[in-house]
Amino acid sequence: MGRVVSLGSINVDHVEYTSTEWIRSAAERYEWFPSPGETVAVESVPDSLREAYGETYLGGKGANQAVAAAAAGAETGLLGMVGDDETRYDVLDSLSDRGVDVTGVARTDGPTGAAYVAVDETGENYIAILAGANGRVDDAYVADRLAACAAADCLLVQNELPPETVRAALDRLAGRPDRPTVVYDPAPAAGAADILAHDCVDVVTPNEGEYDRLGDELDAFEGTVVRTRGADGVVVDGEGSRLSVDPPAVDPVDTTGAGDVFVGYLGAELAAGADFEAAVRLATVAGALSTEREGVQSAAPSREAVESVVVR
Ligand code: RIB
Ligand code: NA
Repeated sequence: MGRVVSLGSINVDHVEYTSTEWIRSAAERYEWFPSPGETVAVESVPDSLREAYGETYLGGKGANQAVAAAAAGAETGLLGMVGDDETRYDVLDSLSDRGVDVTGVARTDGPTGAAYVAVDETGENYIAILAGANGRVDDAYVADRLAACAAADCLLVQNELPPETVRAALDRLAGRPDRPTVVYDPAPAAGAADILAHDCVDVVTPNEGEYDRLGDELDAFEGTVVRTRGADGVVVDGEGSRLSVDPPAVDPVDTTGAGDVFVGYLGAELAAGADFEAAVRLATVAGALSTEREGVQSAAPSREAVESVVVR
């Protein structure tokens, strides 16, 4: 298998399994409340709303994708930052138990990143994130770990770190003959256009909302666009060809992070040198299976489980 590095966010997810009715009323009260399947970055979440989120999971797109890549069998490292409140949730121990090398993760003052995740009765998710320590990941941090990034076969980046940090990381990798394949998940979509324009981005993985929002930038993008469409499957557009992959039939309870599980598996397969189409097919099954369980990291299916569906 190949080596995957995810440079990205680490969050504590506060999750509430609720009704579309509750979501409608929250959306009426709070102008920033996310749309279905959307992640929005916010400055604060009112205490009255915070209290409604009863369960705790570990999340963050960077960490989720790393866990999925490790589940797929890749040697996987995570780069990012946690806060000094981290011991409350044992974030790093838990990631390490799931096979992710967290030795490159730094600890900073203040809170670990947090997400407020509402899930309706159809399993649809609505996510607001508070950057916390993720907002402190800067170019100096990346410069220190450049060797780890360059040593990866596949580098996964998302949009929950400061965009200028992600750009700087790609600038540092640009022109290196040994640079990894870069897979960019443009979530949240705000601020993604700039990174998308970077020459080093090889593959981009928008969901439907991000695809609509980034339309013009995606038209101009020269790499491969892998569009994740939930129950409608995955569409790949690259070098004049198009591929559509249908997901297996599943009974979703929580779609949160299905895109992350997809990306982690895709990254692991690309790192291992798999054929692109085969990689997308395997990753599509992995993402779909993850919706049948609550949470994201705890829902990332084993490679064995995924393969048993692919050959079926
Ligand atoms: O993609 C799902 C993830 O988005 C959640 O785990 C949450 O932390 C946010 O980053
Ligand atoms: Na899930």
